[in-house]
Amino acid sequence: MFYLGIDSGTQSTKSIVLDLESGEIVAQSSEAYGLIEGLPAGHLEQNPADWIKAVKSTISDCLDQLGERKSSLRGIGVSGQQHGLVVLDANDEVVRPAKLWCDTSTTDQCDQFAAEFGGADGLISKAGNTMLPGYTIPKLLWLKQNEPENFARTKSILLPHDYINFFLTGVKRMEFGDASGMGILNIRDKSWETDLIDFVDPAVQEMLPELGSSNVVHGSLRSELASEWCLSDELIVSAGGGDNMMGAIGTGNIADGIITASFGTSGTLYGCAENPVIDPNGEIAAFCDSTDRWMPLACTMNVTVVTERVRDWFGWDLAELERQVDSVPPGAEGVSFLPYLNGERTPNLPNGTGVIHGLGGTSSSPAHLARAAMEGATLGLAYGLRRFAALGLTPGEIRLTGGGSKSSVWRQISADVFGVPVVGLATSEGAGLGGAIQAAHADGQGSYEDLCVRLVSLDETTRCVPDAERAALYSSKLDRQIEMTSVLKEAGLL
Ligand code: XUL
Repeated sequence: MFYLGIDSGTQSTKSIVLDLESGEIVAQSSEAYGLIEGLPAGHLEQNPADWIKAVKSTISDCLDQLGERKSSLRGIGVSGQQHGLVVLDANDEVVRPAKLWCDTSTTDQCDQFAAEFGGADGLISKAGNTMLPGYTIPKLLWLKQNEPENFARTKSILLPHDYINFFLTGVKRMEFGDASGMGILNIRDKSWETDLIDFVDPAVQEMLPELGSSNVVHGSLRSELASEWCLSDELIVSAGGGDNMMGAIGTGNIADGIITASFGTSGTLYGCAENPVIDPNGEIAAFCDSTDRWMPLACTMNVTVVTERVRDWFGWDLAELERQVDSVPPGAEGVSFLPYLNGERTPNLPNGTGVIHGLGGTSSSPAHLARAAMEGATLGLAYGLRRFAALGLTPGEIRLTGGGSKSSVWRQISADVFGVPVVGLATSEGAGLGGAIQAAHADGQGSYEDLCVRLVSLDETTRCVPDAERAALYSSKLDRQIEMTSVLKEAGLL
């Protein structure tokens, strides 16, 4: 039996087909796309049509690779970038491009929520989370205030993975995991906070689809698609989820005590919890996961964004980046790179920018910049790890996923920066694998515990343990990064 996992990300869509019996990935395909160009600073948008095109072509490609074996395909599970806002009109046509998780144009709308509901404390006591520009609902208030004609045309709203589920099945529905990143779900009892919704507009209640468990089948494949791809229209599509929620399943992070770090465009650090985990400071997001549990999560907006920028500057391939970073000692001889190229979520600096500090006569080479960039992005996540510790969550090891986790030099830097052993997985495509496993679970093929034991394996050859001296050096480098950030912020420079 085969299950297909789709990981619709910010830079590309990757689809994989999992053979449930052997645990092998038997087909895979990816298609890249970009952001809409020429928008004002802070406006990061994509056309949902680009995601659908990539979903269609990567599925077709995987089916071609399977050939006649495609008749064994039983289900599909979709992972999508969290928080994006898809707005549909009365005919289910997209009204305008989707504002994404990394769009920071809604600071003003977040301030309006805070002013109305008693600041961060008031919002946290209502929903479990404060209101941050990355989240979905400030984007809808932005639409109402900046494009009233588009708001008036909007009849339904979906998250990116919900929209792909809608394309595949014709059913509009939201599951708890991704819905918890909208800013309007009271994550304690998983119900909508109507005060927050009505603050945008009472009409929004009608725009929201049905909300429910992540453990149910979302729907079956639309008959048009089933005949186009010569597949059974009994093929199921599971509830899916946000990329971090699906990455949790695909890295076996389905029980208390495991922490995953994802090194993608964004960086995330997350765990699974049997009960809600709420940060009184609002820095660790109090999300739900996509197995009907909860997911404390720290998100930074700049991980491979920063290392890719450095590669662009110097025209390096990935192997060259690796060599250059490795050629400079830990600590980058005092060079710091505050990685806030796209603004930042944690710490909350929507208008933040990147800062390079500490260049010296002998420490200003491209290699120093590269090492400082990789360290700075990882230190950003280590800030989240300190906050996890303050909430009583201290991992014995961290599982790494995402593109950055393929780099051996980065894995060692992570172990030293986190001060905890790290280990990669047999596949770095945690979110796609999570989608396939969720589809198998929804299709009655076993509990998550059994499926993850069988299908998720650590790659022990990637395990790195921290060195005490380097860990101490990075701990003071993190103090320095926090101090520089706060001084620049106080001075109005970030
Ligand atoms: C998490 C977040 C990002 C996106 C990336 O809150 O905003 O990790 O999910 O796709």
